[in-house]
Amino acid sequence: MAAGSTAVSQEIRQEVERLRTELALHNHRYYVLDEPLISDAEYDQLFRRLVDLEAAYPALHDPASPTQKVGAPPLTAFAQVRHSVPMLSLANVVSRDEMQEFHQRVQRGLETTQDIEYVAEPKIDGVAVELVYENGKLAVGSTRGDGVTGEDVTANLRTVRSIPLTLRSHPVHPVPEWLEIRGEVFLPEKDFHSLNDTRAKAGEPHFANPRNATAGSLKQLDSSITAQRRLYFFCYGLGRLEGQIPTSHQEFVYMLQGCSILTQPCPAPIRSHQEFVRALRVWGLEPVPQGCVCPTVEDVLDILDDLEAQRDSLDYDTDGVVVKVNSFALQAQLGQTSRSPRWATAYKFSAIQATTRILNIVPQVGRTGTLTPVATLDPVHIGGVTVKSASLHNMDEIERKGIRIGDTVIVERAGDVIPYVVKTIPEKRTGQERSFTMPTACPVCGAQVAREEGEAAYRCTGLTCPAQLKESLTFFAARGSMDIDGLGEKIIDQLVDKDLVRDPGDLYLLTAEQLAALDRLGEKSAHNLTDALERSKTTTLPRLIAALGIRHVGEATARQLAEYLGDLDRIMQAEEEALQDVPDIGPEVARSLAAFFGQERNRAVVKKLLDTGVNFPRLEVKPAGSLHGQTFVLTGTLASLTRPEAKQRLEALGAKVTSSVSKKTDYVVAGIDPGSKRDKAEKLGVPILSEAELLEKLSGQ
Ligand code: IVH
Repeated sequence: MAAGSTAVSQEIRQEVERLRTELALHNHRYYVLDEPLISDAEYDQLFRRLVDLEAAYPALHDPASPTQKVGAPPLTAFAQVRHSVPMLSLANVVSRDEMQEFHQRVQRGLETTQDIEYVAEPKIDGVAVELVYENGKLAVGSTRGDGVTGEDVTANLRTVRSIPLTLRSHPVHPVPEWLEIRGEVFLPEKDFHSLNDTRAKAGEPHFANPRNATAGSLKQLDSSITAQRRLYFFCYGLGRLEGQIPTSHQEFVYMLQGCSILTQPCPAPIRSHQEFVRALRVWGLEPVPQGCVCPTVEDVLDILDDLEAQRDSLDYDTDGVVVKVNSFALQAQLGQTSRSPRWATAYKFSAIQATTRILNIVPQVGRTGTLTPVATLDPVHIGGVTVKSASLHNMDEIERKGIRIGDTVIVERAGDVIPYVVKTIPEKRTGQERSFTMPTACPVCGAQVAREEGEAAYRCTGLTCPAQLKESLTFFAARGSMDIDGLGEKIIDQLVDKDLVRDPGDLYLLTAEQLAALDRLGEKSAHNLTDALERSKTTTLPRLIAALGIRHVGEATARQLAEYLGDLDRIMQAEEEALQDVPDIGPEVARSLAAFFGQERNRAVVKKLLDTGVNFPRLEVKPAGSLHGQTFVLTGTLASLTRPEAKQRLEALGAKVTSSVSKKTDYVVAGIDPGSKRDKAEKLGVPILSEAELLEKLSGQ
């Protein structure tokens, strides 16, 4: 055995393995499903533990570990990139008259009444990015971000077809030493559909439109996923351009030959958008197609309808025409406002809309329990398609738009995107309209529906809800959860479809005969699976709680609960307030737990699990510390210890440390330069402690 592997105990190996599986699961929930099960802080805790273990035990290095992915942890996942020239946005015009007004503004800005030469090109509805080429090599690729700072998505952009990693040089347009190219990344229509088909087969939620799919693909931490997405890139603009790489001998000979027949100086200058587009092609980059030079504004107006008519036949989404002053010198003369250049504007195409009536609003329960209100519409033709329903997204959206059942509404669809309700027409109301309220019970399983504070989504909290059963069983059986070897999604699909399993407890009632009768599961695998089920029954309390898939409750939270409340009964019976007394458990987690265990049907599943033999060792209850149940808020700087130290020491004695002062706060500790929290404490009559008094409490006096 190699020295490296003998040094690592089986226990550590298992922990690393478990962390990897668990993090992979949470990545999926966070990035793909947008349905995190644990808080960011909990995720960070797991992630850091894995990083620490991998650093301590290099023998466990694995290139497939979640820590090895590009920029891995969420939130801080991508490095920031400052654009050397801000990436501005564009002003809009919505009519021909406004296009004329734009032209007049340009003329005034240039103090001329002469014609202006413009270029008009389709406005691509994708995601704006910047590519930096250093000496012809792709060095950095970043998103637009807020225009000043974007995210470094180089690894992902390298996978995009039509983004060359090395530019071609040519005597007429030698590659610059430094070149910043702006453009739009997008997913062609047909690739968007096949991506959604694949996702549907895998039971993953579909992307609402190609732009969302593009943005999601560019934000992947694993660039091999981006590579599968078949993204495309068109260039439309220039950031900074500096220097020229000296031409090679071969190029020089070519240049001498070429120049004798060239009418322009060589290397050719880039003085206009038109010349820039030519250079792009030479370098091997693809400019936005269909662009054309318009010598006068009348030519611009003529071209708008042509480009709009082509809209549906193109393989990419366009939502307008960008009109730019062609000459770079004139562009510079016109300059820019803080948000957008004065030399360009976007003419927006009219949306594809129609008016119809909302016959009903029906909540639909998704795989992760989210209730989405869907409007049943009086069928209407929009752009050659009959539209019968439209997603209303969530309750906030319904309230914001003031939508009622029976309302006459404007519905829009763009491309093949799910139609949506743009607005209601209140003038058309007859008085018969009704407001929609979310049901308090899930329309599929009858369990309680809960909405978390600050969240738009309502969710079914039923552990046995058929709409989300497959998802919760997969989570229950996964490695980081109950670790039921061999119980994958395909088997779970069959078990649910054949009505053999209605909740996780039913898994332990399955017989080898029932399993052997499933497709693609012979007798041997069926026996292996019953063995695995049997083995998984011996677990730990935190794992069992985590396996239930309660929102925001991962294993770390479950362990905390188990340590402080002792047994499962006390956890299940604890009121929201009592749960909040457990260190590190905030209101959100407490609410989620109380809503989950508050339901008889969820408690029944837990009972069934225990009855079928799921067992775990009793945990040592942490003795309540001297400050148990007391809530502290820290403000200002402490002289003898840092805030995290103070927090840790308070928590070690059973206290809870929160960030905002309320009537429930027991003490506010005011250090040097306390903030407004001290004033608030005074106002609410909360006792204020000095640092010395805090130290006294910490020393147990
Ligand atoms: S030129 C302000 N040309 O539209 C910089 N932009 O709404 C000049 N866009 O941020 C931009 N297609 O992401 C230009 N052919 C095109 C475009 C285009 C799409 C995007 C771009 C810009 C946004 C403004």
